[in-house]
Amino acid sequence: MTASTSDLYSLSERYYLPVYRPRRIVLDHGQGARVWDRDGREYVDFGAGIAVNALGHAHPALVAALTEQAGKLWHTSNVFVSEPPLRLAEELVAASRFAQRVFFCNSGTEANEAAVKLARKWATAQGRTPDRRVILSFRGSFHGRTLAAVTATAQPKYHEGFEPLPPGFRYSEFNDLEAAQAAMAAGDVCAVLVEPVQGEGGVTPASEEFLLGLRALCDRHGALLVLDEIQCGMGRTGHLFACHAFGVTPDVVTLAKALGSGFPIGAMLVGEKAADAMQFGAHGTTFGGNPLAAAVARAALRELSSPALLANVARQSLAIRDALSAIDADLKLFSEIRGCGLMLGAQLREPFQGRAGEILDRCVEHGLLLLQAGPDVLRFVPALNISDADITEGLQRLRAALTAFVQPTG
Ligand SMILES: Cc1ncc(COP(=O)(O)O)c(C=O)c1O
Repeated sequence: MTASTSDLYSLSERYYLPVYRPRRIVLDHGQGARVWDRDGREYVDFGAGIAVNALGHAHPALVAALTEQAGKLWHTSNVFVSEPPLRLAEELVAASRFAQRVFFCNSGTEANEAAVKLARKWATAQGRTPDRRVILSFRGSFHGRTLAAVTATAQPKYHEGFEPLPPGFRYSEFNDLEAAQAAMAAGDVCAVLVEPVQGEGGVTPASEEFLLGLRALCDRHGALLVLDEIQCGMGRTGHLFACHAFGVTPDVVTLAKALGSGFPIGAMLVGEKAADAMQFGAHGTTFGGNPLAAAVARAALRELSSPALLANVARQSLAIRDALSAIDADLKLFSEIRGCGLMLGAQLREPFQGRAGEILDRCVEHGLLLLQAGPDVLRFVPALNISDADITEGLQRLRAALTAFVQPTG
């Protein structure tokens, strides 16, 4: 007997730790920017597994890389080396234009955890006492859920009930250079951790002046500039690395999400200043640099580096912005449309604030998978290779869903 959608959904309620509240559909398979649920309903996917499936679903080059590697070697641990992660490291170093070394892990939070540890080791090697190894991060940020990453995440709602949090973290206002200058004045900050485009916090880009100013402050006060490109990296801004889009040279970049384009892998890329900070035994992971993940990420990197794909990001970004402006002209839903590349946010106006979740439900009813970034922002992070036809169809469904939301019938 085949289980119904509602039977399966009930299993999630019964067996999962209830930390998520997924929408009431059960996804079954996908192709490009379309996904089907197990009842055969088709959706345009503007969420891409939270900015992960940068090449859509079932991309043939990724399927080929995974299946080929699956027949060869799955796992070695870091007690031995294998070729896929070595090549991936080499390719990432070259593509980054700043990094010298790479540490592989399995997720975004682990990459940020590694960056915090690296910064502390780096500062320790310079003789800095523990009270002078502070990590500075910014309000509205999101850096992950492990204890150091969640502490760096400067949003109290992620901290509540998990105290005591580890010490040595400080917060400042995003896009406020003067505030950062004041926060670093004591000379006790060893690293500044910042998202070039804040994702979960509302899809808010840093200003170029802010990021370049942070670079200068880090140089003045002997701190590392760590860019969290976990959501905004790997092509999403229209540049392979967000630091290239902003013209800033970081000391460390953290990656995950689109790096494996659906296969779990994270990475910390480290530039010259701190490349030797971590020595034998200082850090580690069993699965990091797994050959399966690395083989997929190498195939993804080739695709994501393609000028045609990066040009598609710019073109479809414009298409979404134009459509959102046109929808807003009719429905008066948004107070701001912001972001860059295919990482866009539409801020809901006053009477609709707090209702992003309801809008996402309407979208599902109209055959569109969409995300929110908090209760007040609709978030658009589709596959970077999304076609004109899928963008057009998705935007039509969005208009229908938003119209139904604003003008409900019956
Ligand atoms: C900017 C940023 N950093 C870190 C993370 C954490 O990544 P993960 O969920 O893979 O641990 C996320 C996840 O949304 C993110 O958007």
